[in-house]
Amino acid sequence: MRMSSGLRVLWTAVLVVGLGEAATAQEKAASGKELFTKYKCTMCHSVKAEGIEAKKAAEGGEEAKGTDLSDVGAKVQSAQWIQDYLLKKVDKDGKKHKTVFKGTEEELKTLAEWLFSLKGKK
Ligand code: HEC
Repeated sequence: MRMSSGLRVLWTAVLVVGLGEAATAQEKAASGKELFTKYKCTMCHSVKAEGIEAKKAAEGGEEAKGTDLSDVGAKVQSAQWIQDYLLKKVDKDGKKHKTVFKGTEEELKTLAEWLFSLKGKK
């Protein structure tokens, strides 16, 4: 099977990042961790195991409503579930997520896979 151009772009991005050279923001595919900050998940969640503090808590304000997601991968069933949950297709304890993910499908996948890889403090 031929590599799709999208896949080739992705591989190029991976190589560029791998070389650690001056990749511009556009060329570089954002990591799950970057997307987490970009889409302001930090408004409500921290990921302490990755050094991410929730905004409200970091600013010394009231403790954020959402939880710490450091071990979310050990709690939920799959990365696919996280994707569905962030699109409000599925519930957690009878409740839908507060926000709907606004990025692309690709970004959601990256983000969900990164979250699912978090299984507690390393
Ligand atoms: C307005 C506040 C708010 C924002 C913004 C927010 N969340 Fe949440 N999130 C919550 C609340 C509240 C819950 C439910 C309580 C809980 O289980 O943590 C939740 C639950 C979750 C869960 C399930 C946790 C578990 O233990 O099952 C995941 C995964 C999650 N959020 C990911 C994200 C991601 C990724 C973003 C950014 C795209 C985000 N959230 C943005 C408030 C928020």
